[in-house]
Amino acid sequence: MNPDEMLSRDARVMRSSLIRQLTGLVNQPHVISFAAGSPNAQTFPHEKLRQILHDLVERERGHVFQYSVTRGNAELIQAVCERDRSLKGVESTPAETLLASGSQQGLDFIARVLLDPGDAVFVETPSFIGAMSSFENFRAKLFAVECDEDGMDLGHLARRIAEARSQGHPCKLIYVVPNFQNPAGTVWSQARRRALCDLSRQAGIVVLEDDAYGELYFDGVDPQALAPIKSCADSGHVIYVSTFSKILAPGLRVAWMHGPAEIIQRIEYCKETGDLCTPTLSQRLVLEFLERGWMPAQAALARDFYTAKARTMQTALREHFSGLARWRAARGGLFQWLDLPEGIDALGLLHDSLEQDQVAFIPGGPFFAEAGRSNALRLSFSNVRDENIDIGLSRLSRRIRQALA
Ligand SMILES: Cc1ncc(COP(=O)(O)O)c(C=O)c1O
Repeated sequence: MNPDEMLSRDARVMRSSLIRQLTGLVNQPHVISFAAGSPNAQTFPHEKLRQILHDLVERERGHVFQYSVTRGNAELIQAVCERDRSLKGVESTPAETLLASGSQQGLDFIARVLLDPGDAVFVETPSFIGAMSSFENFRAKLFAVECDEDGMDLGHLARRIAEARSQGHPCKLIYVVPNFQNPAGTVWSQARRRALCDLSRQAGIVVLEDDAYGELYFDGVDPQALAPIKSCADSGHVIYVSTFSKILAPGLRVAWMHGPAEIIQRIEYCKETGDLCTPTLSQRLVLEFLERGWMPAQAALARDFYTAKARTMQTALREHFSGLARWRAARGGLFQWLDLPEGIDALGLLHDSLEQDQVAFIPGGPFFAEAGRSNALRLSFSNVRDENIDIGLSRLSRRIRQALA
C-alpha cells in the first residue's frame, strides 16, 4: 500500500511551515535565538493561576474537569463581549461570539466554514504564516497585497480583487493583522481601517481581522489608535479574532471571535466535530482571572516586559545595524522586521549564522504569499536575554558585512 495514495486531496497539499521545521534547529540551548515567536514564560502569572486552580478544585471537585458546551462558557463569552466593548469599542452579542482553543483554531475553522478550493483570499505582504497555511490547506488561492506603513495599499487590493474575479476566483476573504502585525510589526492607521471596512463591504468580501497583539502596545502608544476594524460603523461583515495567548498564557489555549451570528453558528458546528469544546479548566481559569480583576495588571506587566525588551533591541540595532539594514521600530507585539541590503539571501544567512555564530532568526521569504523578498528577516525579542540581544545582533551584523564584502 502506498500511503500517499490513501490521502485526501486536501491532505496531499498540507505542509509543515518553515518555522515549525526550523524549531528544532534554532531552539538549542547554545543558540541565541531571535526565532522563537512565543511569549516569554516569565510573564505568565503562574502563582495566581495556581491559586485559582486550587480554589476551583476545592470548590467544585471533579466538575471542573467535565466537558463544557461547544460555543464556550457562557459567563466567559459575556465577559469577553463586555471587555471588548469597554476596551476596544467592539459591539458584539453572545450570539455573535464563540470561544476557540487558540485563535489559530479560530482561523482554521473560519477557513473551513468559508472557503472552497479556488476561492480567493487576500493577504498582506508579508503575512502571518499560520493563517496562510490554514487557507492553503483548504486549497484557497492567495493574492498578496502590497502594504505601506499605514496598512494595506487599498488601490492594489482593488486591482487584485478585479484580477481574481477576471480569473474566475470567487473573492471570499481579506485577512489582516492591523495591530503589531506578525511578522512586520505594522500598525494600520485608523483611516486605512475605515477605508478597508467600506471597500470590503461594497465588494461583498468578509474581512478576517486577527488582533492577537492589540493589547501588547509599548510605552507611549495611544490605545485609541489601535481600535479594531470591527469597531467601525457597519462592520457586520468583519470577523474579529483575538486571544489570551499573548497577555496571559498561550498554553491555556483560550481565544475568541466575534462575527455574523449565522457564520458563528456554522463555526460552532465545525468546532463540535473539531474538539467538542475548549478545555473547561482553561476557560474557568481565564474567567476567574477576569472576575478577580487581575487582567488589567497582568496586561500591563506583559506590556512593560516587552517594552523593555524591544527598547534593548532598538539600542542594539542602532549600534550594529545603522547603515546596514532598514527597519521601523516595533511599537508593540513580539517582532522586529528587518530589510537587508539587496543581494543578501536571508535563508543562506541563517545557515551561516547558525553554524558559525550560533545565532538564529526567521528568514522573511516564507511570510510572502507570492513572490517573496529573500533579503528580509524577522527577529523576536521575546525570549532573548538582554545581554544576548546585543551579542546576537553584533554577530549577525558582522556576518552580513562579511557576506557583502
Ligand atoms: C497573528 C497571529 N495570529 C494568531 C496566532 C495564534 O495564536 P493562538 O492560537 O495562541 O491564539 C498567532 C501566534 O503566533 C499570531 O502571531
